[in-house]
Amino acid sequence: MQWDAKNIIEKFGGIKALAEAIGKDPATIYRWTYSKEKGGTGGIVPSSAAHLIRQAANRQNISLIEHAPLADSTHPHQFISWFRRTVPYIQAHRGKTFVISFNGEAIEDTLFSELMQDFALLNSLGIQLILVHGIRPQLEEKIAQANIQSTVVGHLRITTKGILNLAKEAAGTTRVSIEAELTRCLANSFISNADVKITSGNFITAKPLGILEGIDYQHTGEVRKVDTNSLKINLHAGQIILVSPLAYSPTGDIFNLRGEEVATAIATSIQADKLILLTEQTELLNDNKDVVKQITTKQAEALLNTLDDENSDLYLHLREAIAASQRGVKRIHLVNRKLNGALQLELFTRQGSGTLISTHPFEDARQANIEDTQGIMALIKPLELRGLLSQRSAENIEQDINSFHVIEQDGLITTCAALHEYPEEGMGELACVAVHPGYRSGERGEYLLSMIENKALAKGLSRIFVLTTQTSHWFLERGFIAASLLDLPKSKQQNYNQTRRSHVLIKQLST
Ligand SMILES: CC(C)(COP(=O)(O)OP(=O)(O)OC[C@H]1O[C@@H](n2cnc3c(N)ncnc32)[C@H](O)[C@@H]1OP(=O)(O)O)[C@@H](O)C(=O)NCCC(=O)NCCS
Repeated sequence: MQWDAKNIIEKFGGIKALAEAIGKDPATIYRWTYSKEKGGTGGIVPSSAAHLIRQAANRQNISLIEHAPLADSTHPHQFISWFRRTVPYIQAHRGKTFVISFNGEAIEDTLFSELMQDFALLNSLGIQLILVHGIRPQLEEKIAQANIQSTVVGHLRITTKGILNLAKEAAGTTRVSIEAELTRCLANSFISNADVKITSGNFITAKPLGILEGIDYQHTGEVRKVDTNSLKINLHAGQIILVSPLAYSPTGDIFNLRGEEVATAIATSIQADKLILLTEQTELLNDNKDVVKQITTKQAEALLNTLDDENSDLYLHLREAIAASQRGVKRIHLVNRKLNGALQLELFTRQGSGTLISTHPFEDARQANIEDTQGIMALIKPLELRGLLSQRSAENIEQDINSFHVIEQDGLITTCAALHEYPEEGMGELACVAVHPGYRSGERGEYLLSMIENKALAKGLSRIFVLTTQTSHWFLERGFIAASLLDLPKSKQQNYNQTRRSHVLIKQLST
């Protein structure tokens, strides 16, 4: 059993507090946050301390539930089931393009090495990566060392000539640190011998922000153009692209840009499959303090309007996510990079770790095709065993596949429903309605029902019916009314399964 050291430290209110609570030297706790190469435990709480932590947590009434132990892959059954669950995600992401932005703080952090390993892992799984880094803390350090004045208005720094020189230094050293660590991770961990190159370049053309409300931002700029072609050529050559937040205008002037804005511009222009914004904040939480797993762009806009601090990390990232979504990026993820492994959890597990923002809640709702057969089978089998659905073989589903609609999320079929037509009676049967238990109460069932209703209407049907043993109330609440067997099409009456004794419900469709 393993715990993430950083989270445990945060939970106890800092290294000193934790050291006191469990009667250890603060230096010992520090060591947990260092990588193994630097003599630490690689961000993991050693098992010898677990007992003391549990006792201290009990004493101080601290819940450790959020810090679920990292997967213990040593147990073969756990490993197999974890592996089976992960493979569909690996397949779904292969060949896709992700733009990932992270702040300069991530480079100074003890988890920096782990983050670079995560990027190397994604690359090894065939994901095309564009990484965009920030430089704020590095620049601030240089400004403090140089002892010069710097003005920040809201969240924007006025980049004078002097500050620009320091920004060039900060960007240079930061980029080199990232390249060096990433090179080490690529070479050592997952794809040794692979000759993956990290490319940087003038992919972004910048323009000055100019004078806003009487303030001249000088060398602070914004994105004017993205060289999509060159980015794609480098990605197709299997390279990882690393973009710094400094860019040039056609006149050769240099501008200091916001990393997240650069990432959004790139993701938009190459129509990336995902934009992942690694944030510095804690997760986006709902009123119950649970992580908001998924919101639509509209909901994100409403949320943004409720936030008071327009310069907060949350506000700026959420604003960027909304802009990317409005400009056509289908999936934007806000992931707390301070959680060790959060990126992998978000991409390769059903529960995720962060928040997915998309224009449409279920943009992958569609007519099923033959490749979905196994996914549908996996979804409905447990429900058949519980008597909720009638038995269907894989052959039945294959033959009937054109009647099915599904919602797919990152390669998993989460929802299915079928429409069987009875054109002579102007009726359709809604069949095999199923939502994966892990995805219920997210209105997927309702959404697919409305898709099926629209399909029925388009086919000229005026009523749909459903036969159900245990779910009649769900349908009654959605406009169905109780009916009798005699109300069904003749051929259906003859096939009615007397042993199941399902309720008959009918809904009148309106245009
Ligand atoms: C019924 C089912 C399709 C609903 O899917 P869903 O995506 O969770 O549905 P929605 O999000 O649109 O609606 C969720 C609401 O329905 C309620 N609900 C779920 N099952 C219900 C049932 N059997 N009876 C009454 N209400 C039910 C939930 O409690 C929730 O209510 P809330 O929002 O007040 O909490 C899903 O629960 C399922 O797959 N059930 C097992 C298979 C089944 O029974 N299929 C129908 C066979 S004909």
